Amino acid sequence: MSRFKIVAKTFAGLEHILATEIKALGGESVTVERRAVSFFGDQEMMYKANFHLRTALKILKPIAEFDVENRDDLYDHAKKIPWDKYLALGKSFALDSTVQSEMFLNTMYASLKVKDAIVDKFREQTGKRPSVDPENPDVRINVYLMGNRCILSLDSSGESLHKRGYRVGQGDAPLNEVLAAGMILLTGWHGERDFIDPMCGSGTLLIEAALIAKGIPPGMYRTSFGFETWPDFNEDLFADICNGDYEKESSCKIIGSDISIKDVAIARANIKSASLTKVIDLDVQDFLTLTPPSAPGIVITNPPYGERMKPHSIIELYAAIGDNLKNKFAGYEAWIISSSMDGLKSVGLKPAKKIDLFNGALACSYRCYELFQGSHKEAVIIKKKLV
Ligand SMILES: C[S@@+](CC[C@H](N)C(=O)[O-])C[C@H]1O[C@@H](n2cnc3c(N)ncnc32)[C@H](O)[C@@H]1O
Repeated sequence: MSRFKIVAKTFAGLEHILATEIKALGGESVTVERRAVSFFGDQEMMYKANFHLRTALKILKPIAEFDVENRDDLYDHAKKIPWDKYLALGKSFALDSTVQSEMFLNTMYASLKVKDAIVDKFREQTGKRPSVDPENPDVRINVYLMGNRCILSLDSSGESLHKRGYRVGQGDAPLNEVLAAGMILLTGWHGERDFIDPMCGSGTLLIEAALIAKGIPPGMYRTSFGFETWPDFNEDLFADICNGDYEKESSCKIIGSDISIKDVAIARANIKSASLTKVIDLDVQDFLTLTPPSAPGIVITNPPYGERMKPHSIIELYAAIGDNLKNKFAGYEAWIISSSMDGLKSVGLKPAKKIDLFNGALACSYRCYELFQGSHKEAVIIKKKLV
């Protein structure tokens, strides 16, 4: 099978973890870029990337890369592409674009130029044209224009890969599934220790943790991928990937709780939809009175950021979280993501690591607290003796 360049898009801060996933999958010449990772592979690798990568939002297949000097240049270059290789008459297409260029202050205008080029090319060659369907197209085309550089790609994913297919409900502030998986993988956890999200909301971190611990690919629940409507779709090849035996045994406990009865009900429904009811323990519980199973274990959580709370309440909440971690979670590692710097300061524990991430448009800090058994000094001495 021929090899070609593939680009996996992700969130800022997750590029290196995505590169690690791609290398493990067998991607070649893996290069970290801004909010993306590029690599080389064949058709099978592109299918596998869509099915297996937990931290990718989209898998793109670049088909043309060129410099544009002016607006008409974009049309001329786009018209040279043999579109009938990628799009059959009678099929529909849609365009989406990422544009940062003085030539195209209106992002839509760049998409329009490419659309005109595709339609005109078909008309000139056949007298007919494929239709545009922004909602449910057979082929999605991605226009990326940065300054003068333009890359046109086929979007092999279709809907964003964060739409795993298991979510049936959401609370007020659900984490994006790709961000949740990235947060877990950034800690190095793969199911070795017990996992707790004591403010689990709709259960995103719990479900993504269970998928990781059990080796279940995130694409297992999806009903479709973009490449399935491409002219060169290889159904047998993709069926082999879908029917692989990926599940592994995992003995760690995955425990979730939330103070809100409504949120726990939503989490329960999502967990059931992902067929993980037997894997995740779920309860209504205030984090501030929660006693965890004995160490070792990991807490990964996404507390309220305080947009809907009074400023003093957020400081009190985070201070109480810090106290509870200190008092009851000795031997655990706790990771908290928040956009509330006042809240994080009030935790009152020295972070061992800080990672910058975005939750949607909110700049967040993702912090690791090591909760030593005994004093910190004793723990350092023990660690030194172990080396
Ligand atoms: C930002 S949301 C978590 C969203 C979740 N990560 C998701 O993907 O759906 C914060 C959650 O903290 C819960 N919460 C607030 N105070 C709590 C407390 N004292 N104990 C337990 N949960 C609490 C809220 O009910 C809410 O569901």
